[in-house]
Amino acid sequence: MRLRKRVLILVGTGEGRKLARQASQRGDIEAIASLAGRTRHPDIPIETTRVGGFGGVEGLREYLRGQQIEAVVDATHPFAAQISQNAAQAAQEAGIPHLRLTRPPWSPQPGDRWLEVSSYAEAAQRVPQVAGRVFLTIGRQELARFAQVRQVWFLMRMIDPPAADSPRPPGEILLARGPFSLDDERKLLQDYQIGAIVSKNSGGDATYAKIAAARDLQLPIIMVQRPAMPTGDCVSEIADVFDWLHGLGT
Ligand SMILES: NC(=O)c1ccc[n+]([C@@H]2O[C@H](COP(=O)([O-])OP(=O)(O)OC[C@H]3O[C@@H](n4cnc5c(N)ncnc54)[C@H](OP(=O)(O)O)[C@@H]3O)[C@@H](O)[C@H]2O)c1
Repeated sequence: MRLRKRVLILVGTGEGRKLARQASQRGDIEAIASLAGRTRHPDIPIETTRVGGFGGVEGLREYLRGQQIEAVVDATHPFAAQISQNAAQAAQEAGIPHLRLTRPPWSPQPGDRWLEVSSYAEAAQRVPQVAGRVFLTIGRQELARFAQVRQVWFLMRMIDPPAADSPRPPGEILLARGPFSLDDERKLLQDYQIGAIVSKNSGGDATYAKIAAARDLQLPIIMVQRPAMPTGDCVSEIADVFDWLHGLGT
C-alpha cells in the first residue's frame, strides 16, 4: 500500500496553482499538476508538473491508469468546460474519485447594470446596442468572436498576446495579469472613456475590481454566463479539497 496518495491536479486558475503548491508540500499526497500549456509563464514552481492535453477522454483515462492515479482534482477555470467534462468521464471510467474545485459565480449587487447572456456569440451580437467603446475582458481565445462587430472600439485585456494572424476586432490590446485594484480599474475605464464591459462570470477576487468599478461608474456589463459542468463532488475552498482527500483515506 502506498504511503502517499497519487493525485492528479488539473490546473487552470490561481486557486489551482495554489492548491498544487500546497499539495506538493504535504507528506500524505504525491501531487502531479497538469497544465494545458496555454500560458507562457504559468508561475507554478512544483517539481511534478506535466504540460499539454491528454488526447480527450480516452487519453486521460489511459493516463490515469498508466500513472496509477488514485484521485483527480479538477481545478480548471469555470469556462474550461471540455477538460472538466473529460476529467469527470475519464475518472468514472477509470474507477477513481473525482472532485471539482471551483469559485462561486459573481451575482449582481444593488447598482449593478448586468445584461446576462448565455454565450460569447450572444455577447458579440448585443455589444453595438450597448456602447461604442467597450472593455473586452474575456481572454485572447475568444477574440475572434468579436472580429465582425462593427462600429465598436475595443480595449482588450489578456495575459498573453494573441497570435499575430488571429482575427480580432479593432482597438487596443492590454497585456496584464490580475489581481487588479478598484482604483486602477476605475481609472482605466475613465482614461479610455469606456461605455460598457464584456466579462465572463469567472467569480473570485482577482478580477472582481472591474465589476465594482463598473458599478461605481454606472456602466453596463454584458456578462457571459458559465457553461454547463459535470455533476458530482464540488467544493470552492482549497481546505475542502484536502478534507475530501482525507475522507478518501489519505
Ligand atoms: N476558458 C477560459 O476562460 C479560461 C480562463 C483562464 C484559464 N483557463 C485555463 O486554460 C486552459 C485551457 O482553457 P480552455 O478553455 O481551452 O479549456 P477546454 O476547452 O476545457 O480544454 C480544451 C483542451 O485543452 C486541454 N486541457 C485543458 N486544461 C488542461 C489541463 N489543465 N491539463 C491538460 N490538458 C488540459 C484538454 O486537451 P485534451 O482533450 O487533449 O486532453 C482539453 O480537452 C484550462 O486549463 C483552463 O483552466 C481557461
